[in-house]
This record gives sequence, C-alpha cells and structure tokens, in this order.
Amino acid sequence: MSEAHASDATRRDFLYIATGAAGAVAVGGVAWPLVSQMGPNEREKAAGGPVEIDISAVEPGMLITVIWRGKPYFIRHLTEDEVASAKNAPESDFRDFAAADSRIAAAEGAAEEWAIVGANCTHLGCVPTKVDTGLEGWLCPCHGSKFDVTGRVMKGPAPTNLPLPPFVFASEEKLVIGQEKAGA
Ligand code: FES
Repeated sequence: MSEAHASDATRRDFLYIATGAAGAVAVGGVAWPLVSQMGPNEREKAAGGPVEIDISAVEPGMLITVIWRGKPYFIRHLTEDEVASAKNAPESDFRDFAAADSRIAAAEGAAEEWAIVGANCTHLGCVPTKVDTGLEGWLCPCHGSKFDVTGRVMKGPAPTNLPLPPFVFASEEKLVIGQEKAGA
C-alpha cells in the first residue's frame, strides 16, 4: 500500500470510529478519548436522551431544525399574526383537526409562542419547506401536502398532522426536546 493510501485508510478508520459512538467504546484506547471529550449534551444526543437547545437567537418568524434521536424537528417562533391565523381557522380547513392551543407552546410567563413539531411529512417522510403565507406554514415538496403554522395538515395526501415531540422549556431561552412535562 502506498503512503497516500495508507493515510487514507487511517482517515477512514478514524471517521468510522468517530461516527460510531457505540462501537467506539468497544475498540478501546483510540476511541475512548473521543467519547470522554463529549460534553453532557453530546453524550445525551448520542444516547438519544433529551437535548437542550438555545432558542434565544430565534426571532419571531424564524425556524430552526434540530436532530433528536436521528430525526429532524422544527422549532418555529410564531409571529402574532401566525398565532391569530391558527387560532381563528375553522375546523373545516383541516384534515386532522386539533385545537391550535394544543399545538402552540410558550415558556411559563413568556409571551413568545412556538410550534415544535416533527419535520418528516406524515405521508412518506419528506421534509416540508417553510412558507410564510399567513395560516399556511409548510409545503411538502414531494406530493404537495400543506400544513399550517402549527403543523396541522390542510391539504394533500398526508393523513395526519406533524407529530409533537415531548419537550419542556427550561427557561425562556432554553428548550429541552425529549423530556416529558412533569405530570404528563
Ligand atoms: S411525502 Fe409529503 S406529501 Fe408525500
């Protein structure tokens, strides 16, 4: 093996170890430093436990996507108009009606309101695209399902709403996805 190929192989091995946390512990000395250097949040992520997300920079109208347990989730900071549209929309606009209040969340005592929903379309799993047309909040590029700003399906083949993950607000600026509410 040439020197270049040998170094490629080493790099491949390293990447394999670095991305396979469970296997990494088993191979011992090389991988353990990678695991031990992870902060508590990274270790939780690797295990699929709750993840803490700093939402302080997410302004009204903005959306971020986070990964929890290998799946994407949308965290959308709703504008006042979006909240009003969702609350005033008639049941007949939806295929899988749920009250807007049951899908809009806020930290205790905070005025800011959020939609926190799974980011895989309930038809065949594509990731919908954010749109800003009042009530309409997402359009799935695969077969055209439309969801409102709280992830309720309005049109298209998606049979059900975007799912709600378990989450709590640790504070106005910190959201924890993967943690059940106390008493839930
Ligand atoms: S996967 Fe979204 S409409 Fe088919």
